[in-house]
Amino acid sequence: MDNYNEELGLNIPEHVAIILDGNGRWAKKRFLPRNVGHAQGSKVLEQITDDAVSIGIKYLTVYVFSTENWKRPKAEVAGLMTILRNYLKTCIQKANKDNYKVRIIGTENGLDEDIIESINRLQEATKNNTGLVFQIALNYGSRNEIVRAVKRITEDAVSGKITSEDIDETLISSYLDTAGIPDPDLIIRTSGEKRISNYLLWQGAYSELDFPEVLWPDFNKESLIDEIRKYNNRDRRFGGVKEE
Ligand code: IPE
Ligand code: IPE
Ligand code: MG
Repeated sequence: MDNYNEELGLNIPEHVAIILDGNGRWAKKRFLPRNVGHAQGSKVLEQITDDAVSIGIKYLTVYVFSTENWKRPKAEVAGLMTILRNYLKTCIQKANKDNYKVRIIGTENGLDEDIIESINRLQEATKNNTGLVFQIALNYGSRNEIVRAVKRITEDAVSGKITSEDIDETLISSYLDTAGIPDPDLIIRTSGEKRISNYLLWQGAYSELDFPEVLWPDFNKESLIDEIRKYNNRDRRFGGVKEE
């Protein structure tokens, strides 16, 4: 197997994508405001990149804010933006120290100017790093991503850069925010909710899915290894039949 971790005795998926859910419930259980849950969640996020590297994951994608999350109360959105601002700042140092290449997927539409600047700075400063590719889905929604891709494809068709003959699955993938990144092998959603909530709809066509009960602020390296252990028991067929 191409990416075997001897110490764990496990095949490591190349690309793991996580929907970090359950911050609000974690706080509620402790009679704390929801934003305390988000703050704790961002600490776990700082740790998870280290864990991913030590396990041998090459691509990690995390869903931190969806295009639908603007529907939340103003104070919660403001709190989340403050946490994201701080997170993006610390991320730049950590990424350079640990050689991560950071990419942000999602739309700039609706984000404050300083956050857009932080995103650009973070991507620019880490673009030559050769270790973990760390994608942060921030103000991301898969349908929004597909709409933006279709617009760009149409513009390129109108300008004569491409013809309808050129349009195939590879071309569509190359117009998505995740261009150049292999599709996720495994998508994990914490907190037990069993839905995808507009995450990587195209890219996740053949991903293995898992929905552990653990709330995101309680997620740790052991939880990630558990998920990979379950993944090792899956039989990926991609529409074919298993060889006897
Ligand atoms: C996930 O935690 C973080 C974001 C969506 C930003 P939630 O805030 O959705 O937590 P629950 O689902 O209310 O517990
Ligand atoms: C999905 O979680 C988005 C992120 C984790 C960033 P939500 O908690 O917003 O999703 P729903 O509303 O339960 O589907
Ligand atoms: Mg939630």
